[in-house]
Amino acid sequence: MHAQRKLFVCLSILVLLTVFAAALTAGPGAEAQSAEPYKATLSIRLDQPRWTINRNLYGQFAEHLGRLVYDGLWVGEDSPIPNTHGLRNDVVGALKELHVPVLRWPGGCFADEYHWRDGIGPRDKRPRRPNSSWGGVDANAFGTHEFLELCETIGADAYINGNVGSGSPQEMMDWIEYMTSSTDSDLANLRRRNGRDKPWKIPFFAVGNETWGCGGNMRPEYYADIYRQYATFIKNHSGNRIQKLASGSHDENYNWTEVLMSQAARYMDGLSLHYYTLPTGDWSKKGSATQFAEKEWHSTLARTLRIDEFIQKHSAIMDKYDPQKRVGLMVDEWGTWYDSEPGRDMGALFQQNTLRDAIVAGVNLNIFQKHGDRVRMANIAQMVNVLQAMILTDKEKMALTPTYYVFKMYRVHQGATMIPADLSVPEYKFNDVGIPALSASASRDAEGRLHLSLVNLDPNRAAEISTTLWGGAIKDVSGEVLTAPEMNAMNTFDRPNNVKPAAFNAYKLQGSQLTLNIPAKSVVVLELK
Ligand code: AHR
Repeated sequence: MHAQRKLFVCLSILVLLTVFAAALTAGPGAEAQSAEPYKATLSIRLDQPRWTINRNLYGQFAEHLGRLVYDGLWVGEDSPIPNTHGLRNDVVGALKELHVPVLRWPGGCFADEYHWRDGIGPRDKRPRRPNSSWGGVDANAFGTHEFLELCETIGADAYINGNVGSGSPQEMMDWIEYMTSSTDSDLANLRRRNGRDKPWKIPFFAVGNETWGCGGNMRPEYYADIYRQYATFIKNHSGNRIQKLASGSHDENYNWTEVLMSQAARYMDGLSLHYYTLPTGDWSKKGSATQFAEKEWHSTLARTLRIDEFIQKHSAIMDKYDPQKRVGLMVDEWGTWYDSEPGRDMGALFQQNTLRDAIVAGVNLNIFQKHGDRVRMANIAQMVNVLQAMILTDKEKMALTPTYYVFKMYRVHQGATMIPADLSVPEYKFNDVGIPALSASASRDAEGRLHLSLVNLDPNRAAEISTTLWGGAIKDVSGEVLTAPEMNAMNTFDRPNNVKPAAFNAYKLQGSQLTLNIPAKSVVVLELK
């Protein structure tokens, strides 16, 4: 072979090997180089203000499940992990930053096996009971007083989910009296002897959880009657005013909503809806939290967007029976649900949280705000160490997830006035299935500040958005962006600052014309002044 030809063959092999090695090391989560930005338009209708965005759309959920309550929130007074009355200081500090408006407890499925008397009085005397929903034994160290102290410390309203499946109306009625009565009844005095003089405020109380499933496998007609019976015994004591919530539907189970609304609407203040996002839609093989390619990125976002349709259809049924929109639709469980990590306790539902979860969070929060005339509460599942968590802990270590940062960035919308943000946007397509590439939401707060949240679902292309503000003028833009080079970027205990918000500067303001450049796969929250 000629020396030249030999050199050519060697070089070709080298190039091929390099390409092959690059393909191997790219691994899951790596994606193609960014292409040209796509163009979109956005009209912000400051001249058409709508409803108040209920701050409870930013609610959370803490169930006795896995390492959420024990380890995640509660370590006990004798723990070497710094704590105040047993609640870990690092987690509580991080939660305060989120301005959590409302916290649901003790379940979930666990609610319908929880007996409140197990969780009061001296901790060393409390019974140890099997957690038959999620495994293990619950020593009841975290009970009513500990939960309500947590709520007071982080500034959240309490949402207690009562036990219908294995409880009784009497047990429910007693619990409410114990917590909220200022009289000298035996139960109020028992609370005082257990260390709490002043009654607590309990604004939300639910009659069972998923009563179509783990809460009793009931038919809607049967539960409608049970609901009416139990709700009758939810009493208001000493100025406390409880909103009564009924256990509602999931996904597309519209008949449940139809029956509950037709037969029990006048006895309720809210009806719940649960929807979990699975990358595959298959409960037996949900998909990995961290090891995924663009196919699962796209399918996860396509599935999470379905909540918009579910809310619209359940709301339409509610409108028939409650045109005044008195009864709230409470999405009190939502978020991603992946396969448990190999090597982890399958019942504990611990999952990592990546940039994909941040996108899911932003999209869902935008949808809830869009339907804020009917959706009055939403509680992401769940707060720490379980499903789409804000915070992960491992003994004394703590990591804040990408989802945490979205909730922090979106705080500005809590209690603000919803301002329509109309997008005209191309589809983000994968395998010929298209979903809207962008999601947006806007609000004006009590001080008149206008906030805009944008989510770019496309992992490959930035968005160039021509923005028009109707009914106002923009003179300045500031805000934050959450993104990362990889779709599966995450924060770990070793790299807790891998995914964090950064200042957003990618905009051009010429006269009244604002052009925003939103990076691929990002969440952006801006203040427009
Ligand atoms: O969030 C985990 C479980 O999901 C809850 O306990 C239950 O209500 C739902 O099925």
